[in-house]
Amino acid sequence: MEHSKMNILLFGKNGQVGWELQRSLAPLGNIIAVDYDSLEYCGDFSNPEGVAETVRKIKPDIIVNAAAHTAVDKAESEQEFAQLLNATSVEAIAKEAEILGAWLVHYSTDYVLPGTGDKPWVETDEPSPLNVYGETKLAGERAIQKLCTKHLIFRTSWVYASKGNNFAKTMLRLAAEREDLSIIDDQHGAPTGAELLADCTAHAIPKALSNPNVAGIYHLVASGTTTWFEFANLVFAEAKAAGIELKVKNTSPVATSSYPTPAIRPLNSRLNTTKFKKTFGLELPCWDVGVKRMLHELFSASAK
Ligand SMILES: NC(=O)c1ccc[n+]([C@@H]2O[C@H](COP(=O)([O-])OP(=O)(O)OC[C@H]3O[C@@H](n4cnc5c(N)ncnc54)[C@H](OP(=O)(O)O)[C@@H]3O)[C@@H](O)[C@H]2O)c1
Repeated sequence: MEHSKMNILLFGKNGQVGWELQRSLAPLGNIIAVDYDSLEYCGDFSNPEGVAETVRKIKPDIIVNAAAHTAVDKAESEQEFAQLLNATSVEAIAKEAEILGAWLVHYSTDYVLPGTGDKPWVETDEPSPLNVYGETKLAGERAIQKLCTKHLIFRTSWVYASKGNNFAKTMLRLAAEREDLSIIDDQHGAPTGAELLADCTAHAIPKALSNPNVAGIYHLVASGTTTWFEFANLVFAEAKAAGIELKVKNTSPVATSSYPTPAIRPLNSRLNTTKFKKTFGLELPCWDVGVKRMLHELFSASAK
């Protein structure tokens, strides 16, 4: 089959990752991109039968699902809704993909893992989510593994994009308002750009099409690790270097326990990406490369 004739169904087109996928998947084929309020085709994950019907109508060669219930704290008080979006609709799509023989590309999270220790998690480590979001994402993963042969599940962490809100923007706002900032320093992970995830997805798909044996779960994050405290300090250093005036004078590292949230957060979000890099022959840049690029875009846009 010629790649240019391929139909790619993209769910969640306006999320951080979905937006970048609209760009990165374009050279692979004809993209039909939907969101929860799309009119022509149902992309609403609170309607599993509706999204299944969309797959049956479009008959895509590849389905990429970037839609999810990602409000981690809110999920604690709306478990059924999170389950509907992150598991029930994913299951409905997986069933239809299997009937069509289509590939299903899906994103999951390090939050399916227990978050203990300090070793980067590998794909064979036993999942044990700490919160409702993680439980529902794990149910989504398991439904895909059970029902859809041709699947790629990319587990990632700490996703940011220049579009919309992100941690760096929040820190810049707070640093413009306050002299003292306390920032969590005992959660370890790799900030991963939506751009990187979308580009890696676009590089992985042709490999999967030519070799269906690569189906499976992969850990996919930028290289290196950091904490929110170090990440924030990099943001402030870059802002200063760009001539941006900030009020902040002191930043203090604090423990997660000083900021109680409805959902428990894992302290160890480190993911080992060896399987992804070996299978797809790709390198993953260090996390600060993408963060600096995003900051430069932000600073040059605000200077105009
Ligand atoms: N963000 C992270 O730090 C992170 C970390 C690990 C894994 N992931 C995973 O990576 C994937 C992409 O996440 P992201 O960061 O791009 O998240 P995101 O920006 O929150 O994107 C999720 C998209 O799903 C949409 N959505 C909400 N309710 C929906 C519904 N009923 N039906 C269909 N779509 C609905 C959201 O719309 P609204 O924005 O309008 O609600 C949003 O466009 C997800 O699978 C997520 O679980 C994310």
